[in-house]
Amino acid sequence: MLAEQRKATWLMINSNSSKSIDLTEFQKICNISELKENNGKKFIVNYVEIAVFKVNGEVFALNNICPHQHSALIYDGFIEEGCVVCPAHGWMFDLKTGKLPTGGKGLDIYHVQVSEGNVFVKVPEKKFNW
Ligand code: FES
Repeated sequence: MLAEQRKATWLMINSNSSKSIDLTEFQKICNISELKENNGKKFIVNYVEIAVFKVNGEVFALNNICPHQHSALIYDGFIEEGCVVCPAHGWMFDLKTGKLPTGGKGLDIYHVQVSEGNVFVKVPEKKFNW
């Protein structure tokens, strides 16, 4: 990322507030108006597939690869009781934690910020071992 781009990532959360947020490690993925309530959308950020959902106006980002059979289908899941349900075989993942209902590790989750109508996510760069 260029220095100019980095500077541009400091945004005011609320124009009536002096509070600002460092979005240095965040990337803009879309405008919030592009996300439909309870419908997922897939993005690739830093070579990582993520599934993004807007539920009751709140935006969540999770890894798009289901740990059950490694299907890249989480974005196509449906929302039920604060969880996304994988459309392949019904495994459920908490939208806030990514965990299974049993508490077991499920999906990686990613920080989301919404600023001035834009959605930003912080996804660690994927490391390749070749
Ligand atoms: S691949 Fe997701 S539940 Fe089987």
